[in-house]
Amino acid sequence: MTSDSGSLEHLETDRDRLLVLMGPPGAGKGTQAKRLIDRYGIPQLSTGDMLRAARAAGSELGRQVAAIMDAGQLVSDEIVIALIDQQLRSPATRAGAIFDGFPRTDAQAEALDKLLMSMGRKLDRVILVDVPDAEVVRRNVGRRTCPKCGRTYHLELAPPKQAGACDVDGATLEQRPDDMLDKVSARLEAYHRSTSQVMDYYDRQGLTARISGVGTQDDVFAKLVALIDRTGAAA
Ligand code: AP5
Repeated sequence: MTSDSGSLEHLETDRDRLLVLMGPPGAGKGTQAKRLIDRYGIPQLSTGDMLRAARAAGSELGRQVAAIMDAGQLVSDEIVIALIDQQLRSPATRAGAIFDGFPRTDAQAEALDKLLMSMGRKLDRVILVDVPDAEVVRRNVGRRTCPKCGRTYHLELAPPKQAGACDVDGATLEQRPDDMLDKVSARLEAYHRSTSQVMDYYDRQGLTARISGVGTQDDVFAKLVALIDRTGAAA
């Protein structure tokens, strides 16, 4: 819910803006969502981050999902739908939200539609950030994350200033258990099996747009903003 950096000069909070970022593991959804928070003044709702937070807190939910996540499999629809339901009822999401990593199955997409409809709200856009499988593997295997502030780095593509330490708070960077090579393959397989079909669901509603996630983070961000601003003008 916080912003990491950047100018607030374009901050817009005057309308309910509900965006979905889809894409394979490591497409850059989280990286871009954090920048979109600054731009549009709406929070990121990452089911992956929520589940990791539950694990870090040692809660019953965290214990329930740990093995599934570490194996690169999808946790149950009921669990993630309940997490999103709770967030959408919070005042923090009244001006909108950026869904990151949700929905990932048709059942999750249908549940989100029902929930939003019951609130008199609807999605603006579902944007697929597409990245080829080979690049997905490279990005995930090289990713390192700060356990303290959640900031993400990449060993080659976005290294910290000092090897192994977070630029923000100096904490020792960690590798996510599901970023090991074999787990990345399992996550990619789950993506191709379930999540990519969710785009068909939203295609039928005329909500989808696709951009390439290959290029610099600035390039990808510029493409996203152009797309979202066009959507806003049409809404
Ligand atoms: P989740 O955390 O959602 O993982 P994911 O979808 O696999 O996505 P990632 O967070 O790995 O990648 P990202 O696209 O955000 O990329 P990032 O910006 O970090 O889910 C984890 C697990 O939780 C799942 O496997 C499942 O078990 C469970 N789960 C979560 N949601 C669920 C749901 N709805 N239903 C069921 N189960 C669920 O970038 C990756 C790397 O690339 C970074 O190192 C970054 O620095 C680098 N990078 C970013 N952009 C660029 C660029 N343009 N060029 C070069 N490098 C870049």
